[in-house]
Amino acid sequence: MEKRDCTGQHGMSDVTVIGLGAMGSAMVRALLRDGHHVTVWNREDAFKEKAELALANDGALPAPDLASAVSASPVVIMCLGTAKQNVSNYEAAQAMLSAPDVRPLLSGRVLVQLSTGTPQEARDGERFARESGADYLDCAMWTYPEGMGTPDSSLYLAGPKPTFQRCEPLLRSPFPRLTHVGEKIGAASAIDCALLTLIYQTLIGAIHGALICEAEGVRVDEFGSIAQDQLETLAVLVKMQSDLIQENRFDDNPQGVMRTIANTVERIIRQAGDARINDSIPRFMEEIIGRGMKAGLGDSDLGALIKVLRGDT
Ligand SMILES: NC(=O)c1ccc[n+]([C@@H]2O[C@H](COP(=O)([O-])OP(=O)(O)OC[C@H]3O[C@@H](n4cnc5c(N)ncnc54)[C@H](OP(=O)(O)O)[C@@H]3O)[C@@H](O)[C@H]2O)c1
Repeated sequence: MEKRDCTGQHGMSDVTVIGLGAMGSAMVRALLRDGHHVTVWNREDAFKEKAELALANDGALPAPDLASAVSASPVVIMCLGTAKQNVSNYEAAQAMLSAPDVRPLLSGRVLVQLSTGTPQEARDGERFARESGADYLDCAMWTYPEGMGTPDSSLYLAGPKPTFQRCEPLLRSPFPRLTHVGEKIGAASAIDCALLTLIYQTLIGAIHGALICEAEGVRVDEFGSIAQDQLETLAVLVKMQSDLIQENRFDDNPQGVMRTIANTVERIIRQAGDARINDSIPRFMEEIIGRGMKAGLGDSDLGALIKVLRGDT
């Protein structure tokens, strides 16, 4: 690949990546593998080790400062992770980009936010970009550093369709599974939060499952293998329930009636009592399903619980 100095002139590279942690670095490598010209920048403290030495060897163009990094490309990707400092990724990004020598340079470019955030942070990010004269895409990454660029590496994007189309050829390198989830800027982080709540609660359920197995002398890894087989069924049920909720139709052909599920949860609580194991996870299910039963939803599909959570009943 042709190597050039980064002099900060607009159009020197195809894309700038800011934040060269595990995800940012893996993304840069995937972009380089597909022949894109990539300018990189990380905070000064880690700049030499991460950007200059490692990624420059692979063909990236390290920028001497943030202003040069921003002005080097028409598309600027933010990939910060600030969990260690317990501050918001978006606030950290805006703080950097608000520097007086940087913000005016955003005008006419596309700012792509890849860091994890909330829908409100996405709206704030969009306003910041608009007030800076930039177009904006807000995204949620569904991959991990080593998965970047593999066929399953997914990115959900929200923002104007023309902006998405402009960035699509670039973003397909690290994220072959690219989904534009709409023009509402909070949509990608809403999908992100929704998937995360689904997955975390499934994992927490699996911990209770492990507790049951341990107490009954069943191997937990055997449970894991069986669960792996069954998770396709879970995926089908999640889709069916989502369709029912979208159509507000809980009584036509319920696949899992709330009354039956309440009864099954009772059995799980009874097992916990018999085996003297912690029952806080099934008790949580009992409490929330109990509210649905009290609201007269016993003969409806479990999905009708959304009425309780919305406050409709
Ligand atoms: N890792 C995953 O599997 C995964 C999966 C999906 C989504 N994500 C999301 O991807 C984003 C990046 O994650 P990561 O795993 O790459 O994180 P990481 O390895 O911890 O890297 C964090 C990056 O952010 C920079 N940074 C942190 N605080 C900063 C600040 N206040 N100002 C400027 N730069 C700052 C760090 O710079 P320094 O080196 O100078 O500290 C580093 O470049 C996060 O939003 C994360 O939630 C990660």
